[in-house]
Amino acid sequence: MKPRRKFVFVCNGKDCKKNDAKSFTEVIKNTIKEDDFRGNFKLVKSKCMDCCKSGPVAVIGHELIKKGDKDKLLLLLRSNLHK
Ligand code: FES
Repeated sequence: MKPRRKFVFVCNGKDCKKNDAKSFTEVIKNTIKEDDFRGNFKLVKSKCMDCCKSGPVAVIGHELIKKGDKDKLLLLLRSNLHK
């Protein structure tokens, strides 16, 4: 049976938008389309996650990605592959 796709939630609340959530959303969207990750993740735009001072933020599994940290994004995507 094919493993299910994992959700990646990215905040598109007001404060994160001010901190360029749009660019971070694009980065996530493009990254999960790369060969290594294709078909394994589903991006979901969310409302405020109550971590506004750390924005833009995203959540994969139980982990929070703060300040649009692309290194942590890659790390979490890799560690969540086929779990
Ligand atoms: S607006 Fe993104 S955490 Fe509040």
